[in-house]
Amino acid sequence: MTEKILVIGASGQIGSELTMRLRAKYGNESVIASDIREGGAEMMESGPFEFLDATDKADILVILHKHEITTVYLMAAMLSATAEKHPKKAWDINMNALLYVLEFAEKGLLKTIFWPSSIAVFGETTPRDDTPQKTILEPATVYGISKLAGERWCNYFHDKFGVDVRTIRYPGIISWKTMPGGGTTDYAVEIFHEALKKGSYECFLDEKTKLPMMYMEDALKATLDIMDGEAFDTYVAYNVAAVSFHPKKLAKEIQTILPDFKITYKPDFRQQIADTWPRTIDDSLARKEWNWKHDYDTTAIVKDMLKNLS
Ligand SMILES: NC(=O)c1ccc[n+]([C@@H]2O[C@H](COP(=O)([O-])OP(=O)(O)OC[C@H]3O[C@@H](n4cnc5c(N)ncnc54)[C@H](O)[C@@H]3O)[C@@H](O)[C@H]2O)c1
Repeated sequence: MTEKILVIGASGQIGSELTMRLRAKYGNESVIASDIREGGAEMMESGPFEFLDATDKADILVILHKHEITTVYLMAAMLSATAEKHPKKAWDINMNALLYVLEFAEKGLLKTIFWPSSIAVFGETTPRDDTPQKTILEPATVYGISKLAGERWCNYFHDKFGVDVRTIRYPGIISWKTMPGGGTTDYAVEIFHEALKKGSYECFLDEKTKLPMMYMEDALKATLDIMDGEAFDTYVAYNVAAVSFHPKKLAKEIQTILPDFKITYKPDFRQQIADTWPRTIDDSLARKEWNWKHDYDTTAIVKDMLKNLS
């Protein structure tokens, strides 16, 4: 059977680039983009798009039937910083949409699901350096709670009903095509835009807040790689890591290209979220089991971001 893919939440930071990558791999007509809002011109014009609210179970079913979908990439979510402002709505979006697609897969309507988790599943009781694959998971944010519950539901549907659902715990994703959607690591994207526009940036995290990050190219590679090949015997929400830095280090890297760039710090509520997240991640299991490997270090990310944005 030919692969027919539905990307839910396709207009967002990751979804928009993932859709283009999937269209390049499987053909434009085989990848249906969907969201509650339109995406960028490249995505809207290169293939089919459906307006779809991921919290509407009946509507998802209509789209699955209409396009004979075999695989769903469920990217729609409310991210960490926004979720703290709208906890119930965040729970509704982050949880219900996942349960719906898992149920559709259980009924045999879908072959495979990709559902991303996050480093937000970890909390302040988790070891923050080289955070292991298996460790204490006591997230304190609504977003982290929803991602942890999501992982457990994926595991449940996998073990009980044989649903082929695959998960990566993304770190903060850095990209230049689309602005980030309300996460705690957004500073690492905003900083490039402001550096080029104003020559300065006021950072909402303090200078020593070290967090795991990844360039979009690597995030897309990890996503496509985990979806390639046979289903896994065991459900694992894989740790994947690339780089880790704090704002001061990122600013220093930017200054090697833009020497006059200035950074100031004014931590806000996102500091409290960041303080519960890991500094570095142990992703050796993903590296061993499906040969995960990142290509972009911090220097390469900074160079590529500034080149593309200027
Ligand atoms: N970007 C990151 O740094 C990061 C890190 C870890 C995990 N993730 C996860 O990756 C996934 C994608 O993240 P992103 O950064 O692209 O997020 P984003 O906020 O940029 O995009 C999410 C998209 O979902 C859409 N959406 C929201 N509610 C919807 C609904 N009810 N129905 C349909 N669409 C809806 C939004 O319009 C938006 O286009 C999310 O699950 C997120 O939790 C992202």
